[in-house]
Amino acid sequence: MKRLGVLTSGGDCAGLNAAIRAVVKRAVTGHGAEVVGILQGTKGLMERPVRTRPLDLSIFTGDILRQGGTMLGTVNTGDPFAFPDGRGGVTDRSAEVLEGIRGLDIDALIGIGGDGSMRILRRLADQGGIPFVGIPKTIDNDVPGTEMCIGYHTAVATAVEALDRLQPTAASHQRVMVLEVMGRDAGHIALAAGIAGGADVILIPEVPYDTGAVAAKLASVAGEGRNHALVVCAEAARPRGGAVTTRPDPGGTVHYGGAGQVVGAEIAEATGADVRVTVLGHVQRGGMPTSIDRLLASAFGVHAVDLAAAKRTGRMVGWRGGDTFDTAFEDLGPGPRCVDLEGSQARTARGLGISLGDR
Ligand code: F6P
Repeated sequence: MKRLGVLTSGGDCAGLNAAIRAVVKRAVTGHGAEVVGILQGTKGLMERPVRTRPLDLSIFTGDILRQGGTMLGTVNTGDPFAFPDGRGGVTDRSAEVLEGIRGLDIDALIGIGGDGSMRILRRLADQGGIPFVGIPKTIDNDVPGTEMCIGYHTAVATAVEALDRLQPTAASHQRVMVLEVMGRDAGHIALAAGIAGGADVILIPEVPYDTGAVAAKLASVAGEGRNHALVVCAEAARPRGGAVTTRPDPGGTVHYGGAGQVVGAEIAEATGADVRVTVLGHVQRGGMPTSIDRLLASAFGVHAVDLAAAKRTGRMVGWRGGDTFDTAFEDLGPGPRCVDLEGSQARTARGLGISLGDR
C-alpha cells in the first residue's frame, strides 16, 4: 500500500479529527504509506482539480485530537447520484466523482461517514471498483454493524450536561422542562441522555407517543411530591397516528426539528404545567470529543488502515463488546439501526419507571 485517500462525509461530529489523525499515523508509521485528504467530501471530488491536501505527521501539532469538526470539511447534501443542479432538480454526477478518485492514484479510500453517506460511498466504490473501507460516525449512532459510532458519546454527554443545567432551574420555578435532542431516525441520544440525566419521560421515534400517557406520568411525578419534571424528546419523535415535525427549506431539503415545541404545547394543554422548551441542536455536534470518542476514533482509524493494507476492503469497521471488528458491506443489513426496544437501555428506562410515552 503506497497511497491512501481519506474523506469525511455527511454531518460533522466530535471525534472526526481524531479519526483522521489515527488514519494518518497508522498509514505513515505502520505501513510507510502516504495519505491524501479529500476536502469537502464527495463535493471536493467533483471539482477540478480535485480538492485535496496532503496529510503527513507534520500536521499534528498536538491539538488535532482535541478539536471538534473536521479538518477536511464535509457536506451532507453531496449525494453525487442525485446532486442538486441549482435549478431545483438533481443530476447524476457519480462518473465525475469516480474520475476524481481515480486521478488521485490511491490504493484504497477510507470514508468516515454516517448511515446515508456510507451507502453513497459504498455504491460509488462498487460502481467504480474502488477499494473502500468505511469508518462509522454520526451523533445519531444509527449505522448498522457497530454498537457505537464516532460522535455519539460526545452528543450524549452534551445532552446530559444540558439536563444537569435544566434540572435546578426547573425545580426553582416548578416547571416541566422539555429538551429536544437530535436523532433523525433513531432515539439513541434521547434514550441514553434521558437515563443518565434523570428524565421522567423520553420520547423517541421508535415509540410513537400518546399525550395522555405523558400527562399521566407527569401527574404521578407530581403525586410523588416532586415539583418539576424533565422530558427528553428526540427531534423525530411523533405522536401515535401523527407525523414527524419538519421545517421546510427553500432548497427542498427536509429538516427535522420543532418536535420539542409541539410536545411542550401538548403537555401544557394536557396538564396545565408551566412548560419551557430547549432545543439543543448543533451544540451536540460541535465541541471537544469526549475521551470515549477519541478512543473509538483512534481504534477505528488504526483498524481501517490495517484492513486497507491487508487488501481486505469492501468492509466497515465497527465496535462490539469492547473491541473493534469489521464486516463486509453486504453483510451489514439495512440501516438505520434503531433502538432495540427489548435491549438494555430500553429495559433500563422502563425499569426506572421512565415513561417512553406509550404507557
Ligand atoms: O445525522 C446527523 C444529524 O445531526 C441529525 O441528527 C440531524 O437531523 C441532522 O444531522 C441535521 O443536519 P444539518 O446539519 O443539515 O442541519
